[in-house]
Amino acid sequence: PHVLLLGPPGAGKGTQSKRLADEFGLEHVTTGDALRANKHMETEYGTPAEYMDAGELVPDGLVNEIVKEALQSADGYVLDGYPRNLDQAEYLSEITDLDAVLYFAVSESELVDRLTGRRVCADCGANYHVEFDRPETEGVCDECGGDLYQREDDTEETVKERLRVYEENTAPVVEHYRDEGVLVEVDGEGTPDEVFERVTSVVADAS
Ligand code: AP5
Ligand code: ZN
Repeated sequence: PHVLLLGPPGAGKGTQSKRLADEFGLEHVTTGDALRANKHMETEYGTPAEYMDAGELVPDGLVNEIVKEALQSADGYVLDGYPRNLDQAEYLSEITDLDAVLYFAVSESELVDRLTGRRVCADCGANYHVEFDRPETEGVCDECGGDLYQREDDTEETVKERLRVYEENTAPVVEHYRDEGVLVEVDGEGTPDEVFERVTSVVADAS
C-alpha cells in the first residue's frame, strides 16, 4: 500500500514509519532523513542546513525532487515528513495516489518534551529519549554502539519555531485531507507499542 503519515514535529512519524516499513515490507520515504544526509550540499537554494537548523521549510523545488525520485523506485511505501504545505500536497497528487492517510494527534506539551529530550545515533539514525526511551549505556546506541547526539533543531527555541511553521503551513494540509474524507486520526499518545497497534490496524484495513 501507499501510506502517508502526517503530524506535528515529534508526533512519532519517524518512529512509527520505520516499524510500519518493517512490518509490511514497505519503503520508508522520509524527506527529513534525506535532507539531513545532504545537509551541507550546495544547491541553487543554498544548503538545506540553512533552513533546517532554523526550523524553517526547505524550498519546495528541492524537496519535490527528492520525493519524486524516491517514489519512482518504490512499490509500496510509507511517506513521512511530506507534504508539508498545500503546494507540496498538490505536487504529490500529480505523481502518486494514496491508500491511507494517518494523522497523529499529540498535545503540544508532549511534543516539546519528546523533541527536547530526543537523542539520535550518529551511525544508524536510531532514536532515543533521555526519559522515555533510554539506551542501556548513556550516550551509546544499543543497536550499533554509535554515539548519540542531539539534533541541531531540537533545542527549545527551534522546536517552538518548528511548531509555528507546522501550524502555518502543514496544519492546512491535514485539513485538506480531512475535507477529502481520506484522513484517519490516530491517538499518538501512549507508548510507541500502543500507537503502533492503532497504526497497524488502520494500514491492514487499507491494504
Ligand atoms: P523532519 O526530520 O521531518 O522533522 P519533524 O517533522 O519535525 O519530525 P521529527 O523527526 O522531529 O518527529 P517525528 O514525528 O518523526 O517523531 P519521532 O518519531 O522522531 O524534518 C526536519 C526538517 O527538515 C524540517 O524542519 C525542515 O527544515 C526540513 N524538511 C523535512 N521535510 C520537509 C518538507 N517536506 N518540506 C520542506 N522542508 C522539509 O519521535 C520524536 C521523539 O519522541 C523521539 O525521541 C522518540 O524516541 C520519542 N517518541 C516517539 N514516539 C513516542 C511515544 N509514543 N511516547 C514517548 N516518546 C516517543
Ligand atoms: Zn546506532
